[in-house]
Amino acid sequence: MDRSTTTHPLAAHRPARRAAAPSRGPLRERAAEVLWANWTGTSTVPSRALYPHQWSWDSAFIAIGLRHLSPLRAQLELETLLSAQWGDGRVPHIVFNDAVPLDAYFPSPDFWRSATAGRAAGAPADVQTSGIVQPPVHALAAWLVHRADPGLSRARSFLARLRPRLTAWHRYLLDDRDAGGAGLAAVLHPWEQGMDNSPCWDGPLSRVEPADPGAFRRADLDHGAPEDRPTDTDYGRYVRLAVDYRDRGYADVRGSDVTGPPDAAGPGASRGAFRVEDPAFNALLIASEYALALIDAELDGPAARPSAHRARARTLTEALVARLWDPERELFLCRDLCSGELIGERGVTGLIPLVLPALPPGVAAALVRTARGPHFGLGGPARLVPSHDLTGAAFDPRRYWRGPAWFNTNWLLEKGLRLHGEQDLADGLRADMLDVAGASCFAEYVDPYTGEGCGARGFGWTAALTLDLLREGRDGLFEGAEGEGWGA
Ligand code: SER
Repeated sequence: MDRSTTTHPLAAHRPARRAAAPSRGPLRERAAEVLWANWTGTSTVPSRALYPHQWSWDSAFIAIGLRHLSPLRAQLELETLLSAQWGDGRVPHIVFNDAVPLDAYFPSPDFWRSATAGRAAGAPADVQTSGIVQPPVHALAAWLVHRADPGLSRARSFLARLRPRLTAWHRYLLDDRDAGGAGLAAVLHPWEQGMDNSPCWDGPLSRVEPADPGAFRRADLDHGAPEDRPTDTDYGRYVRLAVDYRDRGYADVRGSDVTGPPDAAGPGASRGAFRVEDPAFNALLIASEYALALIDAELDGPAARPSAHRARARTLTEALVARLWDPERELFLCRDLCSGELIGERGVTGLIPLVLPALPPGVAAALVRTARGPHFGLGGPARLVPSHDLTGAAFDPRRYWRGPAWFNTNWLLEKGLRLHGEQDLADGLRADMLDVAGASCFAEYVDPYTGEGCGARGFGWTAALTLDLLREGRDGLFEGAEGEGWGA
């Protein structure tokens, strides 16, 4: 069966493939306007209304696009984020802007209480942050930002200043977050993985008792349509997990100490209830390990010893395949460390390892088959690759990470397709991303069939990655790296 032609029932309702884009000037200028408007002076907000602070993986993707407008601002973006790094190496998922009113976003700084609850873990005293993390795209972003203007980067010692912080960040993930004991980093909260309400988390989250809805007020519903956002029940669970992590001082427990069922009751009863090894989180860590190897080569020169990061990237790729590859589904899956089982849901997270160059023979081709098949519809019924299985019972084309297409995941897949020789598929995806980004006014996410915008408009990484696609054209993610054989 040619699975690429298999259609989903909803596909019949999608409008003509190329919806007319509102024409308000060339796409590049419109994308630049978004980034200028979202710039605060030291960093970029994902969205002025919905996300009025600095977010960790947003900033990394934003820097990747911002480098084409202002390499200096792109450097500042990453420097600002990393200056809020904790003493234990973690890079917080939000760096709060003190000038923004407390009720503009929930959970606010007085919820996370980083300076007090995070003191033992080394939270900074002079800036307020959250206490959880997001995917480690930062070394990759730093390398790409450097490449945009190596002269400026060297003059400002950009990479030399960032390298110790990036190294400490990866050490934190590889040591303190190796909850499964197999070398991969685990996430302890759905917000850490970034795909907040993915159906992949429904099983693990079902063990978490939601916080009392009267104990907090969601600010996201002031700006987003309820049908586009996570449910109140899921929000209650996010709050419970975060409160319990905070109340144990943001302490991490490793390996055999946390395998097995979570604590049954008492304060912090959700401790250990959510701990997951995730394919995208770890693939991005591996991609960033390759970037650190390139950063070592830049800073230490060709005569230096081969970077340990390259060897680690290969070892981690082997661990990723050993732990999370499902040869039957031809997809990487999430592993629930509480039950020890793989989670059967097909999320876009499972396609993201396509960005990795050292996958075993056959795995990249299998991932491309899966992307083109009925579950993700690439090159077929879907305009952009959805965040979740089009045929899954939980699929919802509008609700946050339960089906809509996001630009960061599609950008990563576009790079992965090119890396593995799928130029035509990558070209088609790139063209559709540019069309949809413009037509949706740089929406946060879109219906994967129709391209209709959902969530915020003028969204930072949508504009930034549009700029990157316009500028980079057919280039791969790591030009300059392949000649050094890091993927061999
Ligand atoms: N993405 C989450 C939110 O919606 C948390 O970072 O606020």
